[in-house]
Amino acid sequence: LKRVRTRHFLSAKQNGTKITGLTSYDQLTAKIFDEAGIDFLLVGDSAANNVLGYDTTLPVTVDEMIPLVRAVARAASRAFVIADLPFGSYETGVADAVHSAIRMMKETGAHAVKLEGGIRSADQIRHIVDAGVPVMAHIGFTPQSEHRLGGHVIQGRGAGEDQLLADARAVEEAGAFAVVLEMVPAEAAKKVTESLTIPTISVGAGPHCDGQLLVWTDWAGLTQGRIPKFVRQYAQIGQTLRDAAGAWKADVEAGEYPGPENSY
Ligand code: KIV
Ligand code: NA
Repeated sequence: LKRVRTRHFLSAKQNGTKITGLTSYDQLTAKIFDEAGIDFLLVGDSAANNVLGYDTTLPVTVDEMIPLVRAVARAASRAFVIADLPFGSYETGVADAVHSAIRMMKETGAHAVKLEGGIRSADQIRHIVDAGVPVMAHIGFTPQSEHRLGGHVIQGRGAGEDQLLADARAVEEAGAFAVVLEMVPAEAAKKVTESLTIPTISVGAGPHCDGQLLVWTDWAGLTQGRIPKFVRQYAQIGQTLRDAAGAWKADVEAGEYPGPENSY
């Protein structure tokens, strides 16, 4: 199978073929999603919550992300692998941003990086792209700035729609190959999608985007606690594992595991 490339994102938009992405943080899920034909794997900084147990994405570092990205990049043979740049690794200026992006590429085998912000991150996007690294942008709700945004709040409503469009144009102009729209009204996302040449990737941005992306642990029913309304769950892995652990414990305690077939 041929590796997905940035040009395939553009041709998918032109042909009206939907693009699919899931997050992945390890080689097991990377291999499974790759085999299932998922087009891109995002090693999201949502690893902060889903792998490392932090309450927000703010604490995770480039050093913590690198081993996870490396595992996913090693395992995926067709999917395009995107490494999220964590909070603090690119906002401080173009030199820091290029440095972080180059570290990710050199040390992991990823094919692109993603960073948050529209107009405010356009310079960083331009310089990273100039250095030879494709950039996926991310606008709308941006979790790394959740404290400034006042929590998990829908973006691009009312007057926010003009800001969203301006941010979308800025990242396209800066050279991003695609842009994630997170938690924005479907109608605003439709306008953005129609006004851009690069594909829009929805995370809770409705059906009109050029692609869809979900956090795999939410989508597969592994995340504990509240799941956003925009997620449709395609499995209940958490409950499956809880049941399996309980059944195994009961078998061990009852002397029913291991059986003769499990013994030498
Ligand atoms: O870190 C992440 O998982 C993400 C997606 C939800 C867009 O950035
Ligand atoms: Na992220």
